Amino acid sequence: MKAFSGFTMPLLLCLAFVLFYSGSGKVTQDAFNDLYYDASATTQCLAEPGITMYGGGIIVNPQFTYGTYGWTVSGQGEIAERVSRTNNGFMAAYNRKLPLDSFSQKVLLEKGEFYMFSAWVQVSEGSETVSAVFGTGGGEFVPGGSVVAEHGCWSLLKGGIAANSSGPVDLLFESKNTSKEIWVDNVSLQPFSKKQWRFHQDQSIEKVRKGKVRLQVTYPYSKAGVGGATVLIKQTKPDFAFGCGMNSHILKSTDYQNWFASRFKFTAFTNEMKWYSTEKKQGQENYTIADAMLKFAQDNKISIRGHTVFWDDPKYQTDWVKALSPKELQEAAERRINSIVSRYAGDVIAWDVVNENLHFSFLEDNLGKNASSIYFSKAYKLDPSARMFVNEFNTIEFGGDVKVSPWNLKKRLEGMLSYPGNEDIPAGIGVQGHFGPGQPNLAYMRSSLDILATTGAPIWLTEVSVEPGLYQAQYLEEVLREAYSHPAVEGIIIFAGPLPAGFSATALTDMNFNSTPAGDVVDKLIKEWKSDDLKARTDEGGFFGTSLLHGEYEITIIDPITNSSSTSIFEVTKDSSEKIFHIQME
Ligand SMILES: *[C@@H]1O[C@H](CO)[C@@H](O)[C@H](O)[C@H]1NC(C)=O
Ligand SMILES: *[C@@H]1O[C@H](CO)[C@@H](O)[C@H](O)[C@H]1NC(C)=O
Ligand SMILES: *[C@@H]1O[C@H](CO)[C@@H](O)[C@H](O)[C@H]1NC(C)=O
Ligand SMILES: *[C@@H]1O[C@H](CO)[C@@H](O)[C@H](O)[C@H]1NC(C)=O
Ligand SMILES: *[C@@H]1O[C@H](CO)[C@@H](O)[C@H](O)[C@H]1NC(C)=O
Ligand SMILES: *[C@@H]1O[C@H](CO)[C@@H](O)[C@H](O)[C@H]1NC(C)=O
Repeated sequence: MKAFSGFTMPLLLCLAFVLFYSGSGKVTQDAFNDLYYDASATTQCLAEPGITMYGGGIIVNPQFTYGTYGWTVSGQGEIAERVSRTNNGFMAAYNRKLPLDSFSQKVLLEKGEFYMFSAWVQVSEGSETVSAVFGTGGGEFVPGGSVVAEHGCWSLLKGGIAANSSGPVDLLFESKNTSKEIWVDNVSLQPFSKKQWRFHQDQSIEKVRKGKVRLQVTYPYSKAGVGGATVLIKQTKPDFAFGCGMNSHILKSTDYQNWFASRFKFTAFTNEMKWYSTEKKQGQENYTIADAMLKFAQDNKISIRGHTVFWDDPKYQTDWVKALSPKELQEAAERRINSIVSRYAGDVIAWDVVNENLHFSFLEDNLGKNASSIYFSKAYKLDPSARMFVNEFNTIEFGGDVKVSPWNLKKRLEGMLSYPGNEDIPAGIGVQGHFGPGQPNLAYMRSSLDILATTGAPIWLTEVSVEPGLYQAQYLEEVLREAYSHPAVEGIIIFAGPLPAGFSATALTDMNFNSTPAGDVVDKLIKEWKSDDLKARTDEGGFFGTSLLHGEYEITIIDPITNSSSTSIFEVTKDSSEKIFHIQME
């Protein structure tokens, strides 16, 4: 409990209440949630293959206990069962000619189900990216996840697929360097219906977003509880950061301002802090618009993610930046980071320091391969109160963009943090979350978040959008729920908004600020992720217990006899377990 305030009770009555908190507490395990967001997600390379998830699920002979039974050669290579020194049988693909030459198993997918995939993988020499793919026939391969596998130990390949039609598909493995053998063990493919999936999400939300609160109301100098006291609990601030990107239209439209301020407490400016916006011409910085948006946000107590100091995509450099020599670029970049980060230091909660520096390398190509690490360090020195983020797309959205796989993003961040002096920078992982118009692959998304979570850094979805399509609203809801239910996700910013402000891809309103179906989803979730006002009475022993979403609350206790009341504030956080609070009033 942080503080108590606003006591309205007359001095005559003495009333005390004690709050007992517990965080997640003990969660009943059932067959599903036992394996949900499993702690087995690891990026360590293990001497022996790790767990066969779900006993292998629908995979036949998942541990290669029966040799190669159930598996066939795919492509031109050869396959064989191998046995490790500890007598563990695994599968090897060798004499490979093409990346997809490996072994495969036909599995039957059912439309509408999500399939969690995992396997333990190594290669016969060095290290190499190995992917799981699902051949749907006709030469089409749907990516199901990838891992940078090493020789000498087993790495976890975790991913999944969303089946958008029913029928047989071939599970197989892919690796570009055909002179390396692919070794695999303990494979698993487990289907979940959408109903089960939602059940898992709700279970996880109970566990990771709520805390139990128990209080007892007593009078001072007496241990006896006060039964029948009225308890009023009102959430004053939700803990989970669910926000929305905003753009400069907000400065001109009171409708947009009202729409925004009545919904969100977190934001990022979609373009207005970018280098190409604030320094269109070299040496002529202009922060007029960003400053005005900052003021609007601050006036409305909206926290801001600073987006973005640099952007590593060469396509988005202004012409004058592109024309600079490396030495001139270095000077210009130095001025840029000093200018924007010190200008908004203390005003933003986070910085995207170098946007998309896994996909692209404009700075590294011109300034040396440590550029991102150096700017991470600079940004942090200029604004030590903000969290420093990497920010990439396709990491959770799409398994086929191997360059930005969760494994590679994790490695990129760790590389930057291992640069001398960067070890203690509070870092965050930004995953943009730009989804296409089709069924989002939530199995892959969850697996990716699991892998990213092994860094220990908080994950934010920073730019969520879903392209227009028949099921846009439903898919947006699925993505948002998936993120909210993941224990490592601490915030979500959607890059969406009213149509008059130009948000035509994921429009949340029409031209007259009437909610679209996607807008209704956002409003529904805002409401759901806040606690409703609660009114209850203490039991005979003076006790009352409930489970509350993390956040700040105001609690009022009304004496059953005199009607005198006392009000105080308290906080439920994921760390507030087993704390006992006393309130004494005279
Ligand atoms: C992995 O597979 C081996 C057989 O290849 C089996 O002996 C072992 O129990 C499996 N490990 C786990 C943790 O399931
Ligand atoms: C492919 O793997 C072999 C064996 O590890 C290695 O010698 C070779 O350099 C690799 N080729 C490429 C292009 O990485
Ligand atoms: C799902 O649909 C997409 C787009 O229509 C297609 O490319 C993909 O192969 C389908 N996936 C499966 C598993 O059928
Ligand atoms: C800075 O930008 C604002 C908003 O676009 C514009 O009105 C103003 O003229 C600019 N200032 C200069 C000095 O260019
Ligand atoms: C990058 O930083 C590392 C660690 O300080 C250093 O050893 C290396 O020489 C640097 N590389 C370049 C290209 O500056
Ligand atoms: C307390 O409030 C109730 C309901 O408003 C009322 O009936 C009762 O008379 C009040 N008691 C006192 C002591 O004011």
